[in-house]
Amino acid sequence: MIHMEGIHKSFGSNHVLRGFDLDIPKGSSMVIIGGSGTGKSIALKCVLGLVKPDQGTILVDGKDASSGDRDAFLARFGMLFQGGALFDSLPVWQNVAFRLLRGSLKRPREEARAIAIEKLRRVGLKSDVADRFPAELSGGMAKRVGLARAIAAEPEIIFFDEPTTGLDPIMSGVINELIREIVVEMGATAMTITHDMTSVRAIADNIAMLHDGVIQWTGPVAEMDQSGDPYLEQFINGRAEGPIEAVR
Ligand SMILES: Nc1ncnc2c1ncn2[C@@H]1O[C@H](COP(=O)(O)OP(=O)(O)O)[C@@H](O)[C@H]1O
Ligand SMILES: [Mg+2]
Repeated sequence: MIHMEGIHKSFGSNHVLRGFDLDIPKGSSMVIIGGSGTGKSIALKCVLGLVKPDQGTILVDGKDASSGDRDAFLARFGMLFQGGALFDSLPVWQNVAFRLLRGSLKRPREEARAIAIEKLRRVGLKSDVADRFPAELSGGMAKRVGLARAIAAEPEIIFFDEPTTGLDPIMSGVINELIREIVVEMGATAMTITHDMTSVRAIADNIAMLHDGVIQWTGPVAEMDQSGDPYLEQFINGRAEGPIEAVR
C-alpha cells in the first residue's frame, strides 16, 4: 500500500533522511521506532506530501503520491497527530467531524454530528463530551478525541504519530488496545511512530527501526527480540551502552 524508496531529506546541513526505504503491505500495521529527532515524523509527512523529499520515490497504492488530485489523495488518510493538535476554538464534535464538514467529504451538519458521536462512543467517550472544548479534556480524553477524528471519515490508511506520548501507563495501554482493535476492524493500513515499546508489541505486525537516516532493521514483531541487530537491541532494551550515541 505504501512504498518508499531512496528517500532523502535535508534541512540545511541537517541530512535527516539518507536513503530511507520502507514497504507497508495493505491491511498491515507497521510501527516505526527510533530516537527523537531521527526523522520519523518527517518520513510520515513525506508520504502525506506535507514535506517534499529532496530525492526518492513514494507510491501509495501503486500511484505516485506527488501527482494527481490532492484532495482525493488526502481523503484516503486519517491521522492522529503527535500532541493531539485539536482545534481549541471548536467543540469536540466539530473536531471529530472536521473532514465531514468541508471539502469533498462534506455531509449535512446533523449527519456529521451523528457520525462524530458514534466515533466518540467507539473510543469510549460519552455523547456529553461532544459539546465540550479541548481545554476541558484530560490528556487521555484528548487522545481519544484525536483518535475519533482520525477514523471519522473511515480512511483506508491511518497514521498515528506518538499515540501514547505523555499518557500514564494504564491510559497508554487503553489507547494501544483501541488502535489495534480499530485497525483490525477497519482493515486499514496503519503506520505508527513511537518510542514506547509497549505500543510496539500491542500495535505492530511489522516494525522498522530508523537510525542515521536509514531503516536499520525491519521485520515481523515476533522476530524483534532475536534480531541480532545491535541498534535494535540497544533501543528495545533501553541501554545507554551500544552503537547508538546517547548524546545528541
Ligand atoms: N520544518 C523543519 N525545518 C527544519 N528542520 C526540521 C523541520 N522539521 C523537522 N526538522 C528537523 O528534522 C529532524 C527530524 O525531525 P522529526 O522527524 O520531527 O523527528 P522525530 O523522529 O522525533 O519525529 C530534527 O532534527 C528536526 O529538527
Ligand atoms: Mg516526531
